[in-house]
Amino acid sequence: MQIFIRLVFTFAILMPVTGWPDAGNETYQSTILITGANRGIGLEFVRQYSQLQWKVIATARKPAEADELNALASNNNNIVIEQLDVTDHQRIDELAQKYQSQAIDILMNNAAITPKYLSAFRSLDGVDLNMARLSFDVNAMGPLKMAQAFMPHVEASQQKKIIVISSKAGSFAESPEAAMMYSYRASKAALNMYMYTLAFETEKRGIILTLLSPGTVNTMGFFGRFMPGSIQPEESVSNMVNVIAELKLQDNGKMLNHIDGSVISW
Ligand SMILES: NC(=O)c1ccc[n+]([C@@H]2O[C@H](COP(=O)([O-])OP(=O)(O)OC[C@H]3O[C@@H](n4cnc5c(N)ncnc54)[C@H](OP(=O)(O)O)[C@@H]3O)[C@@H](O)[C@H]2O)c1
Repeated sequence: MQIFIRLVFTFAILMPVTGWPDAGNETYQSTILITGANRGIGLEFVRQYSQLQWKVIATARKPAEADELNALASNNNNIVIEQLDVTDHQRIDELAQKYQSQAIDILMNNAAITPKYLSAFRSLDGVDLNMARLSFDVNAMGPLKMAQAFMPHVEASQQKKIIVISSKAGSFAESPEAAMMYSYRASKAALNMYMYTLAFETEKRGIILTLLSPGTVNTMGFFGRFMPGSIQPEESVSNMVNVIAELKLQDNGKMLNHIDGSVISW
């Protein structure tokens, strides 16, 4: 019975999504869904996968304000934009339902509250507990809920990959020995453990679930130039695209480096 249900679902999911610009095209085209696609690393993922001729479902909290993403989509008909705040679980379910007939080769969990807010570098007295709660909601529970909703779409695809952009800041072994970024570090550590745990399930489904560290990336514009050792989003993302293309089932449940896919210790 279970096999029958899976066959029916797989058949349904490989049918073209109505509304996609090239719906009805029968040749298989790889598809990626990206969260936080309006700026920074997420926007660069959209650019590069679109250039690689993938179908890109680019999600953003506020599409109307996503000028660069809108410009990109208006010049590339393989990009569709969807509104998504990853703390809105009902909206995640709605999108999963809308794309129920669309296989998704890569579910790219990129969106995060990153430590650009003012209190991020303060020590204990300055830790903003509302920001702490929001960081957990977005950074840790967001990707977990996305995996819950989109696992069938990934399972029905050819590449079957769930990618999670994490950070060395969430690693006990690699995080800087300093009292700062409490909420970012803790939420990324929680994310790492959620994904480490989930990987025992994805393994059984033939899905590769891998966390990636993008390096220190200048997503801060002018001021980012002064971050020691920072690289541009183009370089980080092209490295990650190469690492993702080479992923094997053995990489399931690991956190890897953006440059060469080497393993980062938890
Ligand atoms: N840059 C680095 O050096 C670095 C280093 C290590 C790891 N990372 C990781 O790489 C990823 C991307 O980083 P970045 O530097 O590109 O970050 P960023 O410039 O701060 O962009 C964050 C993205 O996440 C989105 N976002 C925030 N809250 C959201 C929510 N509730 N729902 C949906 N989207 C939300 C933002 O949308 P809005 O524009 O609407 O706020 C934005 O698109 C993050 O996971 C980050 O932790 C970055």
